[in-house]
Amino acid sequence: MDLLHILAIESSCDETAVAILRAPKEEREDAAAELLCSIISSQVPLHREYGGVVPELASRNHSADLPRLIRQACREAGLQPRDLDICAATAGPGLVAALLIGSSTAKGLALGLGKPYIAVNHLEGHLMSPFITLPKIPCPHIGLVVSGGHTLFVDVSAFGSYKLLGRSLDDAAGEAFDKVGKMLGLPYPGGPEVDKRAALGNPRAFDFPRALMHEPQPNVSFSGLKTSVLYTLPKLTPGGNPADIPEQTINDLCASFQKAVVDVLVGKAMRALEMSGRRILALSGGVSCNSMLRSQLGTACESAGVRLILPEYRFTTDNAAMIAFTALQKARNGQFSPLDRDVDPNLSLTGEHNRSKSDGNTGPGNEPA
Ligand code: KG4
Ligand code: ZN
Repeated sequence: MDLLHILAIESSCDETAVAILRAPKEEREDAAAELLCSIISSQVPLHREYGGVVPELASRNHSADLPRLIRQACREAGLQPRDLDICAATAGPGLVAALLIGSSTAKGLALGLGKPYIAVNHLEGHLMSPFITLPKIPCPHIGLVVSGGHTLFVDVSAFGSYKLLGRSLDDAAGEAFDKVGKMLGLPYPGGPEVDKRAALGNPRAFDFPRALMHEPQPNVSFSGLKTSVLYTLPKLTPGGNPADIPEQTINDLCASFQKAVVDVLVGKAMRALEMSGRRILALSGGVSCNSMLRSQLGTACESAGVRLILPEYRFTTDNAAMIAFTALQKARNGQFSPLDRDVDPNLSLTGEHNRSKSDGNTGPGNEPA
């Protein structure tokens, strides 16, 4: 059996990640790809003191870390660089200088080894992440991508055939979590912190809005919800400083905010399924870690007779395994990239304008316009 060894690099934001995947050249019903290693070196502690991602720091650290991570990946996989058949990297969307570091490294490796290069769309990586350990991508299905930069409802008829059914009209879901976390004085990134606090709070304590629920399209909007949390703070304490708000009230705010986001995402996911007639829903992106989202989608899908495919936790936030798995599908289709293929910070999944207004990168270096 002919095997491919694919090394992939992910460097679109604040995680430096390298993975090596081994898989048969041709898709086989009985053989899933074998993930030989998946290393994620998170820069989160570095950016935390700035309250968000600092693009310059991110790219400098990708550049410093990648050679070590590539050596480590080859060691963990028991391979020499010459054993690699394909070098792949995320080519967008993301922070431009961060993308350039990962893609230039993969291109240099490909050039040195005389092997092909494959540029991968980060969003397609997320979309494929629930299937990394399956022998076959279940199609057709609805993909719900909920990350720090995007909220997309996608009709996937086959690998590479995507129709955008809906998206966020303003903040992405993860971006809303991060901004609300910041408002409540929680450390960056807000998503996991809000999730933890919400588990200790009452989701009915505050009545926050659920926008666009009566619109038939599966579009979502979180900016009104975010503003509503902001306007609630001065009602709880003069000046609205979260440090003056009791711990339990912060937990209740987190739970009520999270419930509003989850109600909207679940409601709109069910709408996308009805509209398209699809019977499979696949969730992906950093926000797919969220415990309430996972359980509420599980309940809704079960009662609608829909199969729900959740990504393993290690494949939810940014990782290179999803980039390697997407590169594998492209290699099987003969979709290799030229070495002069540029990165694109605004790369879309479907050719339509599907980015959120502020692109989710809410660090001090790139505040939304
Ligand atoms: O997919 P990802 O790693 O990066 C992007 O491509 O944007 O997603 C990161 C986002 C952040 O906004 C983070 O706060 C959010 O995912 N996130 C969560 C949770 N874990 C991460 N949001 C809600 N609940 C969580 N448990
Ligand atoms: Zn991502």
